[in-house]
Amino acid sequence: MSKNYKVFLSEKDMPGQWYNLAADLPTPMQPPLGPDGNPITPDMLAPVFPMNLIEQEVSSERWIDIPEEIQEMLYRWRPTPLHRAYHLEKALGTPARIYYKNESVSPAGSHKPNTAVAQAWYNKEFGIKKLTTETGAGQWGSALAFACSLVGLECKVFMVRVSFDQKPFRKMLMASYGANCVASPSNETKAGRDILAKIPDTPGSLGIAISEAIEEAVTDESGETRYSLGSVLNHVMLHQTIIGQEVKKQLEIFGEKTPDTVIACAGGGSNFAGIAFPFIHDKINGADIDIIPVEPSSCPTLTRAPFSYDHGDVACMTPLLPMYSLGHEFIPPPIHAGGLRYHGMSPLVSQAAVEGLINPRSVHQLEAYESAILFAKTEGILVAPETSHAVAATIQEANKAKEEGKEKVIVFNLSGHGMMDLVGYDKFLKGELSNYSLPDEDIKKYTEPLKKYPQPSTSKSGKW
Ligand SMILES: Cc1ncc(COP(=O)(O)O)c(C=O)c1O
Repeated sequence: MSKNYKVFLSEKDMPGQWYNLAADLPTPMQPPLGPDGNPITPDMLAPVFPMNLIEQEVSSERWIDIPEEIQEMLYRWRPTPLHRAYHLEKALGTPARIYYKNESVSPAGSHKPNTAVAQAWYNKEFGIKKLTTETGAGQWGSALAFACSLVGLECKVFMVRVSFDQKPFRKMLMASYGANCVASPSNETKAGRDILAKIPDTPGSLGIAISEAIEEAVTDESGETRYSLGSVLNHVMLHQTIIGQEVKKQLEIFGEKTPDTVIACAGGGSNFAGIAFPFIHDKINGADIDIIPVEPSSCPTLTRAPFSYDHGDVACMTPLLPMYSLGHEFIPPPIHAGGLRYHGMSPLVSQAAVEGLINPRSVHQLEAYESAILFAKTEGILVAPETSHAVAATIQEANKAKEEGKEKVIVFNLSGHGMMDLVGYDKFLKGELSNYSLPDEDIKKYTEPLKKYPQPSTSKSGKW
């Protein structure tokens, strides 16, 4: 009998609910704080987000139903396939069984549309006419542009300057969906103009682009514009949890029980949360799983930054969030994984890290690209530069299994394809890229100002 290379699920097997990790974390989530240091109320978020999404943001319900209209939109590409990476296993000579969840099959090419269609739908339901957002690599901007075109919303995207220049095809895709994409920092907002006056040749950052997008939303006097964020916030993590729920069903069909290792890259934390949170649920209930978020050594949020209250953006327009943060003024070096260049980390992912439920790791740019090239040559998919970090950690784990002679089951999230990220691959193949490890002095410099904010509790249950 031929081997199973991939498992597809049918539409009827698609999860009907999102999973909320906040309901199960042994230490409760700590609230976002306002400028006065007190917890913010849902009303304070109302100029930025519609109330139906704010309700999800603060929800502690374990399961939240996915409205039928959103499921209808997700059916365009979901459920996504789970593949067994036989050819990569063979090239590595590993006894590990490697699986990857292929989120690159979505229309925009990554996991991002999972939350984009949900957010666009809730905004439309609330009577909103236009969404603004930021984008790093361009995956999120494309996803929201696509979602807005489905539900009939106007869409404006501030794209981090360095990615805007490196990835011209992303803005063409956004334009094809009917969105307006500008380079950030721009002259269109006060936040953008302030940064340009200080650092005229700045490569930009997600923190700056977020400030611009929020400013444009809250200054629209019609009150019909809101802001949409592609990662970090609780409701975004929630929307991605369909990934891990599908993986569980698919592993079962492959004949696997609990995986030994679950891996995903982490920028703001959403694709990691998507695959990992349903497995963290199992770990909290006794399963033995090594769960690894992977970040770049040049932007080592979970691995080297303090757990602190900090703003999600440069202009301090967001509330203070309890998260691992390199400081909101940190402008990461212009590495090619634009979606991993974020100073902070999802509060839910951060709290799971505080609890010891996950084991963060960083990898260098060159190892990530080398791993992606081996993956392309064996499995055929040229992954996004962000995803290459997950591939690198997967190869590290598969090589460890080989050294130990262990038949491990490793699953990673293939968060996106790299077909619009070819400039980075070109530079790598020409030998023009290098590694960069953030110096300790820089971390100290950018995180020093965080000491003036209230400090979140680091207490944990001590079970992991
Ligand atoms: C393909 C891909 N993977 C991962 C990420 C990182 O974001 P997150 O940590 O929210 O998944 C991005 C962000 O742009 C991305 O485009």
